[in-house]
Amino acid sequence: MSSGAAEAYISHFDVQRVRADFPLLSTRINQHPLVYFDNAATTQKPLSVIECLRHYYAEDNANIHRGVHTLSQRATSAFERAREIVRQFLGAKEGAEIIFTRGTTEAINLVAQSYARTQLKAGDEILIGEAEHHANIVPWQILGSQIGTILKVVPVNDAGEITPSALAAALTNRTRLCAFGHVSNALGSINPVAEIVRLARSVGAKVLVDGAQAVAHAPVDVQSLDCDFYAFSGHKLFGPTGIGVLYGKRELLEEMPPYQGGGDMIKTVSFSGTEYADLPHKFEAGTPHIAGAIGLGAAIQYLDGLDRRGALRHEDALLAYATEQARGVSGLRIIGTARDKAAVLSFLIDGTHPQDLGVLLDNQGVAIRTGHHCAMPVMQRFGIPGTARASFAFYNTREEIDYFFTALEKARQMLA
Ligand code: ALA
Repeated sequence: MSSGAAEAYISHFDVQRVRADFPLLSTRINQHPLVYFDNAATTQKPLSVIECLRHYYAEDNANIHRGVHTLSQRATSAFERAREIVRQFLGAKEGAEIIFTRGTTEAINLVAQSYARTQLKAGDEILIGEAEHHANIVPWQILGSQIGTILKVVPVNDAGEITPSALAAALTNRTRLCAFGHVSNALGSINPVAEIVRLARSVGAKVLVDGAQAVAHAPVDVQSLDCDFYAFSGHKLFGPTGIGVLYGKRELLEEMPPYQGGGDMIKTVSFSGTEYADLPHKFEAGTPHIAGAIGLGAAIQYLDGLDRRGALRHEDALLAYATEQARGVSGLRIIGTARDKAAVLSFLIDGTHPQDLGVLLDNQGVAIRTGHHCAMPVMQRFGIPGTARASFAFYNTREEIDYFFTALEKARQMLA
């Protein structure tokens, strides 16, 4: 996007009105107004989500699916309403396909240990991308040590992109599962998920999409993507921590054994055997994060009330503007220059360590993340220990980006 277009979009989206919904954005850090550019790590929460959590604990708190009493029924219906909100958000066919988990990490581990551990065998290949988050690497390594599956990695190019040709080259008739991030948290690259699904299907492989970094940025429709599994976390979607979602196609979930055993995932239990509950409860053992699920529903409703197209354009424009500014900073190298990118500016500055930059920026009120971003292999790919990463959300502003670059220059001078 040209900077002219970027400016037009920045001025069209009513960012000040939106910012007023997020109480923490008006705080001060180290005597400076907060500039929160760590949205890829976690997003801030709107008042409606904070109020929803307060309301739940103050007015409705009870355990779900277990009580005939009024509070339990209220909590149950709010929890199941949240599932329906998530279903609509992802475009899934039915609520039975929406499993509440602790987050993306647990959702991927569930697929590894329940689906892959029972359906794959030694020598079967699982394909992932080189820029994956550790949550989409380690579960497959654990699985490999358990059953002998082989983990294959599709390399990214110098821009940090997975190209269809690199993916096609890595597919074989032993590929059973392709597990890819929708958006790279470390580089911001948007992976060509529809193309990944199409190519995976050509060898009969299933597809899991790690959507942790994607859902806050653009609408997702699991039916049109036609992926088999889609995972995301509430806290990167303006909702609470400790809650996430696994979407899975019903026919796969039906065949999968439970991931954990316990209360609420059974129909009957005796010492001679247990009959499991129907979907989705079969995968939700124990008391879940009830307030978290309800809060996630509130976060999605908040997003639904926004001009999402405008928000996305605003965010794209912020990235274009920040990228243009970054290119003017001598000695600054952007890591991750994919053509399709979402909201992440990862970079290094000659002669400085990212962590020092992070501390000196924090002294000026700017929150960024530094380090390997839980994606060590892609750092190794670029021959670097880590980066400084500014990541944006629709509530950030062009003025904040200007302040960030001024603060960055001061930090650099202090380190010279
Ligand atoms: N995965 C999160 C990040 O990218 C925590 O910062």
